[in-house]
Amino acid sequence: MNIKTILIEKANAAMGAAGIPEGSNPAVTQSTRPQFGDYQINGAMGAAKALKTNPRELAQKIIDNLDVSDIAEKTEIAGPGFINIHLKPEFLSNSLAAANQDQKLAVAEHSQPQKVVVDFSSPNLAKEMHVGHLRSTIIGDSVVRALEFRGDTVVRQNHMGDWGTQFGMLIAHLEDLLNQGVDLESVALADLETFYRDAKKRFDDEEGFADKARNYVVKLQSGDAHCQKLWTLFIDTSVKHSEEVYQRLNVTLTRNDIMAESAYNSELNTIISLLKDKNIAVEDQGAQVVFLDELANKDGEPSVFIVQKSGGGFLYATTDLAACDYRSNKLGADRILIFVDARQSLHFNQVELTARKAGLLRDETSYEFSPFGTMMGSDGKPFKTRTGGTVKLADLLEEAISRATDKLADRESGLSDAERTEIARKVGIGAVKYADLSKHRTSDYIFNWDSMLSFEGATAPYLQYAYTRVRSIFRKADIDSSALTATINIAQPQEKALAIKLLQLEEVLDLMISEATPHVLCGYLYELASLYMTFYEACPILKDDVASDVRDSRLVLCNLVANTLRTGLDLLGIEVMEQM
Ligand code: ARG
Repeated sequence: MNIKTILIEKANAAMGAAGIPEGSNPAVTQSTRPQFGDYQINGAMGAAKALKTNPRELAQKIIDNLDVSDIAEKTEIAGPGFINIHLKPEFLSNSLAAANQDQKLAVAEHSQPQKVVVDFSSPNLAKEMHVGHLRSTIIGDSVVRALEFRGDTVVRQNHMGDWGTQFGMLIAHLEDLLNQGVDLESVALADLETFYRDAKKRFDDEEGFADKARNYVVKLQSGDAHCQKLWTLFIDTSVKHSEEVYQRLNVTLTRNDIMAESAYNSELNTIISLLKDKNIAVEDQGAQVVFLDELANKDGEPSVFIVQKSGGGFLYATTDLAACDYRSNKLGADRILIFVDARQSLHFNQVELTARKAGLLRDETSYEFSPFGTMMGSDGKPFKTRTGGTVKLADLLEEAISRATDKLADRESGLSDAERTEIARKVGIGAVKYADLSKHRTSDYIFNWDSMLSFEGATAPYLQYAYTRVRSIFRKADIDSSALTATINIAQPQEKALAIKLLQLEEVLDLMISEATPHVLCGYLYELASLYMTFYEACPILKDDVASDVRDSRLVLCNLVANTLRTGLDLLGIEVMEQM
């Protein structure tokens, strides 16, 4: 159910019949105020300009040809040529009844499902996941959930950084610890940060260690069994650390989704040969370089994209070119979405331009680098620990849960300790996720514990609480909400506002999916919860003097609100609870 799409179709037909050339934008939008109707068709102004006619007269012609009798009770022209559409209460009731009967709330699947490769999370395995990986992981995960909800085929790819020169140093250090009999999981790799720091210190200070480390890189890359074994041990432990974080965060990534940098090793020579054969890469001081005029600086100097180092070594860039080939040519992706920090924009521009020239990306594949801004501390600088270190993601999530536990501690409820623990987990993790997802993807934002854990304003706790409030109505009245089939009667303005909001879920998901922006869904759910509160104040439900048909109609609305909140939060990867 998508009112906007229905109106666009009808508006296009009416505009054609009114003599407006095809391709003119009907400009259908949701109205911003009830006096402007529920939706508007604003395309008359643009079309009139192109045709050099009077916009109000053209708007009248459009209305004369507009067949909206099945969905609207009134259309009117306003201002310079806006067309206001007032939807019919019966249309709203019937659409809501259909949504109430449907698991997916009448959100349709895409008529032409796409194959979408989504590259997200993708931490470097040399260290433990830190807060910088939060955004990629949760934004990617919610977009993936929404794509699947609409029926697209998603291939999750966790492009983990498991290759590169630092691994020589790490495995050389690991080898020594193992020789000393140090226990691997509980001591040596229990804390990857410390492990990395110790290895780096030896690399910088200890005589001979750096040479050994460099030698181990070469051996590793040429397939030496001993080095490979050490590397696998290290990678395996690091992946386990990430998996713990994924579980905590309630994200859908599993081990099967790992398509790490090393997976492309055997393709890299072929990629370089291809670039050389096509004269896309040329030798420059021993390295293989692609010069990109498209990204030239203001002095006209082309952008330099190194694809192979002078010693023959491959880089992050080479792997990303191989990934393009795999995703576009082998998997046949229609879209590739990559969720990475905005600071990597240039790299991905270079990758795309080079890959398109070389045929590593088909024209049919849309390559969508989807950058995000930085999470900042209250000082407006990138978020750090008090002593200026990087914050481990695992620690941040534990702190969120413990703060939520404190916050919920003095609430009166008949809940057991086990239930309280579970609720605190959902609230703490949900708060961190919603605070992040609700900001526009591309902007930086300031991380603030107090505001994200507040029960007021646009937060996860507010939405989770709203959900429990709706659900408590059914508990109080002892009604099975899944069996509600009453006729919905939209009489009050608060009911109408709520009804229309409920019917806009598909529109919101369309936007979220096309732009890869979960914040639109966050905003929608907050508006829905707020409209519900207004409705609840104005429209009594269980009071004695409420007629039973009115009561039953309102109960269906309540049920739809609960289901929409639960479904929407689930698409954000946020869990709900029946009570809190
Ligand atoms: N491992 C990289 C990082 O932590 C992100 C990788 C993103 N994906 C890619 N195809 N390069 O910055």
